[in-house]
Amino acid sequence: MLFSLLFLAALTVATPSPRYGSPYPHGGSHCPPIKGDFNVTYFRLYPEGFDYDSIHCKAYIGGNFNSTVLKKDLHTGEQELLTFPGISFNETYHISGIEFSPRTGAIYFSANNGIAFQSGATDLTGPNKLIKYDTFTNRVVWISDMAPVIAEIKRLTGIQVNGFQDVAEDLAGNVYSVITFGRAIVKITPDGKPSIYYYTPHPPSVNGVMLTSWNGIMSVGDLLILPENSLGKFYVFNTKNGKATPKIYTPKEMPSGYSLSCDRINPPAMFDGTVALCSDDAHGVAVYHSTDKWNTAEYLGLIPNRGTGIPTASGQISNGLYYSNEFFFDVDPNVFDLQPGGNRTIFPFYDITSEVRGLVSRSGRSSW
Ligand SMILES: *[C@@H]1O[C@H](CO)[C@@H](O)[C@H](O)[C@H]1NC(C)=O
Ligand SMILES: *[C@@H]1O[C@H](CO)[C@@H](O)[C@H](O)[C@H]1NC(C)=O
Ligand SMILES: *[C@@H]1O[C@H](CO)[C@@H](O)[C@H](O)[C@H]1NC(C)=O
Ligand SMILES: *[C@@H]1O[C@H](CO)[C@@H](O)[C@H](O)[C@H]1NC(C)=O
Repeated sequence: MLFSLLFLAALTVATPSPRYGSPYPHGGSHCPPIKGDFNVTYFRLYPEGFDYDSIHCKAYIGGNFNSTVLKKDLHTGEQELLTFPGISFNETYHISGIEFSPRTGAIYFSANNGIAFQSGATDLTGPNKLIKYDTFTNRVVWISDMAPVIAEIKRLTGIQVNGFQDVAEDLAGNVYSVITFGRAIVKITPDGKPSIYYYTPHPPSVNGVMLTSWNGIMSVGDLLILPENSLGKFYVFNTKNGKATPKIYTPKEMPSGYSLSCDRINPPAMFDGTVALCSDDAHGVAVYHSTDKWNTAEYLGLIPNRGTGIPTASGQISNGLYYSNEFFFDVDPNVFDLQPGGNRTIFPFYDITSEVRGLVSRSGRSSW
């Protein structure tokens, strides 16, 4: 009896709990299927980020230099340019990070200060806004100003931080926005109030110029996973813990001579939070995998960039996996990210579904 009770208990523990990344109520499977590379044709779009609303089957593609967002039905071609008062066509701002939440139907647009990036982190004084947009009502819910949090970090550390990019939402609907130069994270409540989630008293710098800590952030269940580019390590936070204490590690199986470097990082719904697409600006899309809820991670391989631009973002669109190309050097081949961008109209998106599926299935461990 005792034996069988213990045996039962052991069985109970071993029974798969609900998938960790769930609920993903709309993995994209009900949307019109997509296959193959495609171009998005729109004057001066220059996407640094994109995401896919897998509830209403619409792509949201960032217009970096105009600070607009193109909302597009890739199936019918129907499209609408979203603009935001005071932000769009204001050269102060770049819309880079774009993140959809399949749980709440919210999509976030990071309107960050372009100069922080253009200046190579030597001018960190500009404003930053985070926009929350509701895909059910097609309305802006709030625009949150990051300035009070930057001021608070300066009060605590004496350091002026800046360089906002990607965001990720937790299960309670809070959203976390990364500060690239100064290694900090801002937490914004579902009603738009920002506060410090994490900061670093002595962020990494060389000759007083702060290094690129993190560009991307992703959430899987209660976890936040951030690639720290200056260290080549993952930081993992559990948002359920009262204190933001990261677990820090180097992924396994990193090829020699290659170090972790991610712009966007994203967990495609089709892999239920076990796979991360890391947009490596210099090389293409690196694929990481975890079989233990991101306690450890493993490098699976790299899909080289097939375009002539910079592969800043990757993620799932309907039932496919894609990356985009940003053309940062159209104004001046020697100056990165210069306003107002160039006069390009055609922006390519590359299908990497079969390559990623191949890497994941060759790893032999496709789920938790
Ligand atoms: C995208 O546009 C480029 C430039 O015109 C063209 O070479 C390429 O074939 C197009 N790609 C697709 C998938 O249509
Ligand atoms: C960007 O702004 C230009 C005007 O300066 C406009 O012609 C173009 O359509 C805009 N594109 C986007 C994606 O906002
Ligand atoms: C551009 O943004 C800055 C910073 O928020 C603001 O001070 C300025 O008024 C804006 N310009 C316009 C034309 O909206
Ligand atoms: C874009 O077109 C405008 C208007 O023709 C021109 O003044 C500008 O120099 C062009 N920019 C680039 C980067 O070619």
